[in-house]
Formats: sequence, C-alpha cells, structure tokens
Amino acid sequence: MKKLIVTLMGASLFIAACGGNDVVNEASNSTNNETTSNGTYDLASGEEIYQQKCAACHGGDLTGAGASAVTGLTYDEVLDAVVNGAGSMPAGLVTGSDAEDVSAWVEKVGNE
Ligand code: HEC
Repeated sequence: MKKLIVTLMGASLFIAACGGNDVVNEASNSTNNETTSNGTYDLASGEEIYQQKCAACHGGDLTGAGASAVTGLTYDEVLDAVVNGAGSMPAGLVTGSDAEDVSAWVEKVGNE
C-alpha cells in the first residue's frame, strides 16, 4: 500500500513538472506544490505573495518598479535578501515557508 502511494505521488510530481508554465498560471490553486532544484515549494502561493508583498517595488514582471529588477537570481540570493534585507529593503517582509515559496517562484520565473 505504501508503495502504491509513493508511486502515485511520483506520478503527480512528474505531471506537475511537465506542466511547466501552467503552474504559474494556476495561482488560485494554493496547494500546487512543485519541485525545483532546491526542493518542493508552493509556487502558486509564491506568486500570490510576490504580487502582494514585492511587486510594488520590484514590478509585477520582476523587471523593477522603483527598486531593481529581481531577475536572474538564485533561490539562495532571493531568500537571503528577503530574510536579511537588502539595501533599503527591510528584513523579514515575508517569513518562514512564505519566504521560501516566494524565493522559489522568483528564481523560477526570473530565470525563464
Ligand atoms: C518597499 C520596497 C520593497 C519591497 C516591498 C520589496 N523590496 Fe526587495 N528590494 C528593495 C530595495 C530598495 C532593494 C535594494 C536594491 C535596489 O535598490 O533595488 C531590494 C533588493 C532586493 C533583492 C536583491 C536584488 C539583487 O540584485 O541582489 C531581492 C532578491 C529582493 N529585493 C526581493 C524582494 C522580494 C522577494 C520581495 C517581496 C517579499 C521584496 N523584495 C520586497 C525594495 C523592496
């Protein structure tokens, strides 16, 4: 039984990975986990958080609005900026798994 569940989970991860950009367009599904190079994050939630907490300064398309563009960055660079602050950006705008989800989303979309 356990083996079956593991197999099913593997299959759904595979389907999610093949969905590519679809995940980004499914922001309403807040339990839409996807595996990136760093682990599994809720990228739909990450996008929502970005639009609510980051877009005002960094632009809805990540290319900057007042603050700099947040494209071409790694997950670690984004998470470091969110957790510790960067320049005049305050630390801790988003914390915990929200910070991880938004960092994974910024890395993914900013490197497409
Ligand atoms: C109040 C405006 C503001 C908000 C909101 C904000 N930032 Fe920033 N951010 C800045 C400023 C200012 C900098 C410093 C660099 C610059 O001048 O653009 C910065 C820097 C960064 C950097 C470092 C960029 C680099 O090239 O190293 C990242 C990554 C980043 N922000 C991500 C985010 C994320 C993710 C969020 C949402 C959780 C967010 N920021 C919210 C203003 C903001």
